[in-house]
Amino acid sequence: MQNPSHIQGVSLAALADEFGTPAYIYDGEKITTQVKTLQEAFSTVPLKIKYATKALSNINILKLIRKAGAGIDAVSIEEVKLGMMAGYSPEEIMYTPSGVGFEEIREAVKLGIMINLDSLPLMEEFGQIYGNTVPACIRINPHIMAGGNIKISTGHKESKFGISIEQLPQILKKVSNYKLQIIGLHIHTGSDILDAEVFLRGGNVLFEAAMKFADLKFLDFGGGFKVAYKPNDISTDIMEVGKKVGEAFQEFCLRYGRQLELWLEPGKFLVSEAGYLLVKANVVKESTSVTFVGVDSGLNHLIRPMMYDAYHEVYNLSNPEGKKAKYNVVGYICETDTIAAHRELTEVKAGDLLVIKNAGAYGFSMASNYNSRLRPPEILIWGGKAHQIRKRENFEDLIRNQEILDI
Ligand code: LLP
Repeated sequence: MQNPSHIQGVSLAALADEFGTPAYIYDGEKITTQVKTLQEAFSTVPLKIKYATKALSNINILKLIRKAGAGIDAVSIEEVKLGMMAGYSPEEIMYTPSGVGFEEIREAVKLGIMINLDSLPLMEEFGQIYGNTVPACIRINPHIMAGGNIKISTGHKESKFGISIEQLPQILKKVSNYKLQIIGLHIHTGSDILDAEVFLRGGNVLFEAAMKFADLKFLDFGGGFKVAYKPNDISTDIMEVGKKVGEAFQEFCLRYGRQLELWLEPGKFLVSEAGYLLVKANVVKESTSVTFVGVDSGLNHLIRPMMYDAYHEVYNLSNPEGKKAKYNVVGYICETDTIAAHRELTEVKAGDLLVIKNAGAYGFSMASNYNSRLRPPEILIWGGKAHQIRKRENFEDLIRNQEILDI
């Protein structure tokens, strides 16, 4: 299924006819398979998967992931609510805030959601208000540089996330002052992490800190497994990570004197490869040195190439076998929104359908209305059928919340 023309027997070209372009298409079976693969890789430990909702937060996707046996990690009170709408019980949701106001914490606690405390001031306020009555988790910054690039590295010394491991004495002081019930420790070092060793290094930081806590029930290793974006790209060897981390974890549990749960928070690993952004070539424009293909989408729908210099494979669905030429695939936004530069594609004509791969994670969820453009529909292929799980926006949606003054 390198460059699929069909997903679960459903023709992508027929989807373009039915729903128009641009459109996000998700392969529900692929998502379920990824959950199962992760469960298998970590089968030697009591595993809990907490899907990083931010990657793709359509309620139907959350339902599907729940059905496959995973919980969720939410990073806003809105994501918490989406999770609950998808049928998750509060115990299946962890809330990992990043410097949010305390009213959001209060709201989440009221809903019965566990909070992943990410700063010393938050620990202080949490302690003053809830003392030992509400169990919580602590997000540690392990000072590990990891991930595909600095913008998606979250566990290094200068990163805003979590509480520095060097501040462990202060953490412990707050725990003892307020008799906090800390049942979990968490790290997340970044995204696009290839190397199994990074997870082991993170584990060692967690293990050492964990010895200072008496009531732990779980250790959360975060997410960040790398998926293959380029042809012949390598992805995290999940079986190797599962084996190595699983062994180290079980050894630690013996030392700790209690069997803990191992939590993971993958986003990309579960949904990236399942997603395709289906677009149409509006124009093929030959310049002196470059041939541009202008498509009916851009950084408003998929910002990853521009924000992170991320590579997304593109193929011409309308001309699968033709001879190849080099193109710059660019968006229709009034910015330099290059989706793919100097890329070999089978010859493109105006009107051809192009497919942008790996669009499941951080695609729609980072989309915007920039240039007053409308966001595309989301189509889930599930049970061999196409289901529209979000309609295309219309002009009414764009102006819905504007109050028009009598000027
Ligand atoms: N857990 C936490 C606390 C996170 O902050 C993240 C991602 C994850 C889990 C999931 O990471 P993943 O398995 O998806 O790599 N928008 C960027 C990625 C930012 C990720 C932020 N945090 C991108 O498109 O590459």
